[in-house]
Amino acid sequence: MTRRAGPLPRLLAFLLLLACLAAPAAAQAPLPRIVSQDGRHMLTVDGRPFLMLGAQVNNSSNYPVMLPMVWPTIRALHANTVEVPIAWEQVEPVEGRFDFSFLDELVRQARRNDVRLVLLWFATWKNTGPSYAPEWVKADTRRFARMIRRDGRTHYVLSPHGRETLAADRRAFVRLMEHIREIDPQHTIIMVQPQNEVGSYGSPRDFSPEAQRLFEGPVPAELARALGRGGGTWSQVFGPRADQAFNAWHTARYIDDIAAAGQAVKDLPMYCNASLSDPFTEEGAENTASGGPNWNVIAIWKAAAPHVDFVAPDIYNRSHPAYIRYLDLYARPDNPLMVPETGNAAEYARFLWAALGRGAIGFAPFGMDATGYSNYPLGAERLDAETMEAFAGPYRLLAPIASDWARIAFEHPTWGVAKGPDGADQSMVMGRWQVTAQFGLWQFGERDWTWIETRPHPTVDRPVGGAVLAQLGPDEFLLAGTALRLRFALAAPAEGENVQWLSVEEGTFDNGRWTMRRRWNGDQTDYGLNLTEPVLLRVRLGSYR
Ligand code: DGJ
Repeated sequence: MTRRAGPLPRLLAFLLLLACLAAPAAAQAPLPRIVSQDGRHMLTVDGRPFLMLGAQVNNSSNYPVMLPMVWPTIRALHANTVEVPIAWEQVEPVEGRFDFSFLDELVRQARRNDVRLVLLWFATWKNTGPSYAPEWVKADTRRFARMIRRDGRTHYVLSPHGRETLAADRRAFVRLMEHIREIDPQHTIIMVQPQNEVGSYGSPRDFSPEAQRLFEGPVPAELARALGRGGGTWSQVFGPRADQAFNAWHTARYIDDIAAAGQAVKDLPMYCNASLSDPFTEEGAENTASGGPNWNVIAIWKAAAPHVDFVAPDIYNRSHPAYIRYLDLYARPDNPLMVPETGNAAEYARFLWAALGRGAIGFAPFGMDATGYSNYPLGAERLDAETMEAFAGPYRLLAPIASDWARIAFEHPTWGVAKGPDGADQSMVMGRWQVTAQFGLWQFGERDWTWIETRPHPTVDRPVGGAVLAQLGPDEFLLAGTALRLRFALAAPAEGENVQWLSVEEGTFDNGRWTMRRRWNGDQTDYGLNLTEPVLLRVRLGSYR
């Protein structure tokens, strides 16, 4: 029987239509947001939790002609977000004349490829230098002041004290955000990174007369307050770190000004990425992009740039302890962890798990396109099939559950692990359970078996393997990972207390609901959980006496 709407429903439908037409803004998708609670963070897109499985293209892939070399790599990777530069020189080649045709094309093609975008505003600073500023900026060093070195020579970096530079950059950025507001009501663009790896190499700050005067003056009261320190000059408050602190404050203020102006147009989350110094010592930190959001000046950046939602580490260090330390330094209650750039060599892929375990809202290997460029030794020599698969495997597993994972990680304790240099076991206590990750083992049998001859596992000496766990309840875990064995033991067993699996389900989420594919049992659970390919498991444990 066909039911026809009577007069009342028809009137309601008509009123609803009128309301929609009268309030188009209300019908728009909600803005991307970063939500923070109890020290955990979550990115939301379209009002839903979102985990950014990202990839960054090469630096000069920001032209329409290059895009056909981008999408096949992004698709093969199963990324849901692409980070792409938008260069000031490209949008404002002549002062006051703007050209957003690349952005228009990029957004169109991103939608066709069903991915979101993060725009990288390469402007006053790109890897500290002004290379992406328009020629009219680069050529006019009188109007657009460079830093002055201690010895009086002109430095290559545009000064954060250059008011004309700030005004010009801000104007262009606001135009960019206005254009985004106009063409992107559905928020294909989910975040913006104003500038790229800012700071200064080779001179810790600007020594121009104006900068020097500021340096000899007092530290701004709001900064001293935010750091809980007494007042005084920069040297008095920061001692040997004074030059770096001073440049951090002024660089962050400059960017905050630009971010605030952009957000007033369209309030998108914004973050700044950091070139990193040695994570184990502050010694020499001022020699690495001094003034950028390096780990030792995060607190200064937080005080100076409230419109910058977070600062983020670009991690190109293959050392396991260093990588983990960077993750720990940037995962803070006041700073969501995101890795906006990491090397695209296969060995970096396992750190995705470690990042997720620390609540990462996103992760992106760098140089992910088929333009033939390789930034080895930072990243891979070549994006060959094996390298691609190191990232694509985990992304393929996580892409369908990216929203579920973002929600779960926001609501539950998590732990992430990546194989270390010696392949040693790594453990974590979660509630009453001690979880241990083991590497380089066959799926069957125990490491100490001598009764049967066993060849070493092919991954023994390879930097692969990792997993992430979320504790869903006292005795229940959701876990994902690859190339490792996970074992569960009681952290403090009572006399005679034993452990058993109640259930180990392999599955996925479908519309937010867990769906089981099969149960693991027998050989598949007798020697711990052996994850050889990326897999998602839901595990319930019990103990008995
Ligand atoms: C970090 C920068 O942010 C990237 O744009 C790029 O230059 C890499 N370093 C090196 O390939």
